[in-house]
Formats: sequence, structure tokens, C-alpha cells
Amino acid sequence: MALPPGPQTPRFIRMLKLIGRPLEYLEDYYRIYGDIFAVGQNRPPAVVYVNHPDGIQQIFAAEPDRFRSGSGGQVLRFLLGDASLVVLDGDRHLQRRRLLMPPFHGERLRVYHQLICQITQRATASWQTGQTFQVRTLMQEITLSVILQAVFGLQEGDRFNQLKSLLSQMLDALGSPLAASLIFFPALQKDWGAWSPWGRFVRLKQQVDDLIYQEIRERKATGLSDRADILSLLMSARDEAGQPMQEVELRDELMTLLTAGHETTASALTWALYWVHALPEVETKLRAELQQLGDHPDPAEIARLPYLTAVCQETLRIYPITLTTGVRVLTTPMEILGYELPAGTVLFPCTYLVHHNPQLYPQSKQFRPDRFLERQFAPYEFLPFGGGLRYCIGAALALLEMKLVLATLLQHWQFGLIDHRPIKPVRRSLTMAPPAGLSMKVRPLIQQGTEEVLENVK
Ligand code: HEM
Repeated sequence: MALPPGPQTPRFIRMLKLIGRPLEYLEDYYRIYGDIFAVGQNRPPAVVYVNHPDGIQQIFAAEPDRFRSGSGGQVLRFLLGDASLVVLDGDRHLQRRRLLMPPFHGERLRVYHQLICQITQRATASWQTGQTFQVRTLMQEITLSVILQAVFGLQEGDRFNQLKSLLSQMLDALGSPLAASLIFFPALQKDWGAWSPWGRFVRLKQQVDDLIYQEIRERKATGLSDRADILSLLMSARDEAGQPMQEVELRDELMTLLTAGHETTASALTWALYWVHALPEVETKLRAELQQLGDHPDPAEIARLPYLTAVCQETLRIYPITLTTGVRVLTTPMEILGYELPAGTVLFPCTYLVHHNPQLYPQSKQFRPDRFLERQFAPYEFLPFGGGLRYCIGAALALLEMKLVLATLLQHWQFGLIDHRPIKPVRRSLTMAPPAGLSMKVRPLIQQGTEEVLENVK
């Protein structure tokens, strides 16, 4: 069984590049090897990157038992726990997905419409004309509040604020490229006290765990009454044997939703606000579309706007938040793009390289939302949320949040970039994000010709 070609670079050197310059890592190998390549061939199991839509289609359409996906990395297991959806496989994974999916779909998302708009307005209520702000800090504040309320139904108060602050600190502790080395080199995961990077992460995680367990126990004691949040839904669910979820299972699922549910969306929103203000023609078009809805638009109408939707899709295309989907490990041999890959091969469908395939996305480095209005892309051509049985369960919520937050901000404010030099994504643990320091200045919205307003902001 021949593996596809790939580099013979020593693992350590390869990993340093993957951590520090991940886009170049992928682009350089793609230039040499093309649609499929294998790394780490001298140290099995080989890791195969699948970069062509046909190969991705094969993977997304394959029978569920062809892969183990849920094994996850050690850090994911440590953070999310062994009962998290992300690390489950087989029937347990499917059952848990069936349980978790309903509140994230269709009509059920309507309950979040007003919540998202209100949280956005509240987060910007104290803004003063001319002030500058860090875009990521704002977006993280908004997405964390949304997920805390949706998942726990928590109203603002002590526990809400504590969880918000601890979760942010915990994820920031793994955020820098240096701290990301902890994820890729397990030998560095040593607790050398509260000031060591791993020690700090471990202590913050313990505090978050404590708060989650307190909330679960209190909810048990007070009863669920008619609450509609996801914690209550999980607590009232019963398996085939009539058994409720155990506390540790509840904890793992809550931690999964809280962490998967806000960092990614905050990064996507930071990019979206950046792109809209880096390219005046995009801002003009978007503001014109929003203005057509009048002063008090219905959030459901906002969510249907075609150009706004295209701006969000293009944001997720050009710099996808995860460069690959989650991992798939073959349980049986499988032929992909002409190569017969042995059982045990680790597959990474490569979102970033497919999103820059010149046949699908001409001039792929240009931010051009119109490409999404000109043609439809198949799920294996546009895959910011992965696909198949592992498709992100929060995708619809994330897109809704992106549209409503962006629209709410633009309805009330004008923005200007502080620094007009182009920016590139940087590593943020397992994901890619805009640089943390990206800042903007703010002005209240002045109702006049859009061009004139834009001139004022610069
Ligand atoms: C822009 C925001 C988001 C992006 C880019 C994103 C991306 C992804 C990706 C790429 C995967 C792996 C899919 C695969 O391997 O095929 C995934 C899985 C997952 N996502 Fe998201 N996600 C986002 C928001 C959310 C939100 C808001 C939630 C929950 C509230 C969420 C919860 C999950 C969960 C639980 C999984 C694991 C699914 C499984 O293993 O069955 N994500 N996401």
C-alpha cells in the first residue's frame, strides 16, 4: 500500500513550522505535492492531508465506522473530558449528537435573536465617540455572554461574571503561539506551579470545573421547572435504559459547548469587522443593504440578507478558523484520490487549501463576498464547519451570531481601522485568529451619504 508523497523533514522541525507559520507549512507542501500529501512517514502512523474537494467528498460521505474521529488530542481530552461529544465515537457519539442538536437548529434559534442583539448593544452602551477598542475583546465578551445564557440560561450575576472571566483567562492561557507548543509537545505539559504556563491553565480549569459542578448541583436541588436552556435539556434527557446523564457527562458536555461555542465565533466576528472596514466598497454595499430594512429591522430579516450572508461566508473562507477539520483515523484501509491508505492512517481534510483552490476560488487571496452570490458551493468545497457526521453542531448559531452582531454594530456606529496595513492570521491554540491587538476607533452613526460618512471616519 503506497502512501502519497510527502516531506522527509524531521518531525521536530516540521512541528515548529506548523506551530509558528502554519499557513506557509500548508502552502509550501501543497506547492510541491499537490492535492494529497503524507507527513511523518518515517514515524507511523502517517498523517495525510487531503486537499482536493473530491477526496474531502469521499471522507464526508464514508460510513461512520470507517473512522475514529473522537480520539482527540491529549489536551482536548484533558480540557473537555472523556465524555465530551468531541472525543466520543460510534453509537455513543450519534446518540449524544441527537440529544444536543435540537436546540441549535431551525426555529429553536429564534429564541436567541433578541438575546444576541441586546447583548451586543449592552457591550457597546458605554462607548464614547472617538474611543479606540480592541476588536477581539469586544467580540469575545459578546460571544461568551451569548453562549453562557444559551447553555446555562444564566442571568448576569456573580456566577455568570466569574465563569465569564475564568473561561476567558483559561483559553487565553493557551492562546499565544508559545503556549500552543504545550498542545503539540505533550512533554511540556508539566505543572511547575501557578506561574508556569501549564500550571496556570490547570488551576484555571479547576476553578471553571468547580463553578460548572456548583451550577449542576444547584439546578438539581431547585428543579428544572420550565427552563429552556441546554443544561436543563440535558438534565431532563434519559437514555434507552431510562437513566439520566451523570454529573461528569454533564460537565464534559457543558465545557465542550462553552469552549467550542465562543472562541471560534469571536475570531470569525473579529475578522468580519476587520474586512468590512479594510475594504470601503464592502462597507458601502453592506450598509446600503442594511439601510433597506429601515430603523428597527426584524432579526429574522437581517439573518436572510444575501450580501451580509456572503460577507460572513467569505470571512470564513479566506482564513478559516480551523485550518483542517477534526482528525479522522482510518479503522480499515481506504482508497482516497488514488492512494490505498492503510488502517491507522491519520487524515486531515484541509479546509484552508480547499478554500484557496484556484479552480473553485479564483484570486483566492482577495476578499470578495460576491463569489458566494455568483455560485453555490458544495459542502466539500466550502467547509469552515467541517462535514459529514462530525459537522459542527453550532454552525447555524455561529452564522446567526455573526450576522446579527455585525448588523447591530453597523446600525449604531461607524468604525475606522487604526492601522491600515494588511494583517495575517496568527495561531491561537488549535485555531487561527486575527492578531489579538487589532484595534479600531468608534464614532456614532451619522445619517448621511455613506461616502461622506466614511470620509469623516478616516
Ligand atoms: C465560527 C464559529 C465556529 C467554527 C468555525 C466551528 C468549526 C468547527 C469545526 C471545523 C468542527 C469539526 C468538524 C469536523 O471535524 O468535521 C467543529 C465541531 C464542533 N463544534 Fe464548532 N465551530 C464554530 C462554532 C461552534 C459553536 C457556536 C458551537 C456550540 C455552541 C460549536 C460546537 C461544536 C461541537 C460540539 C463540535 C463537535 C461535533 C462532533 O464531534 O460531532 N461550534 N466546529
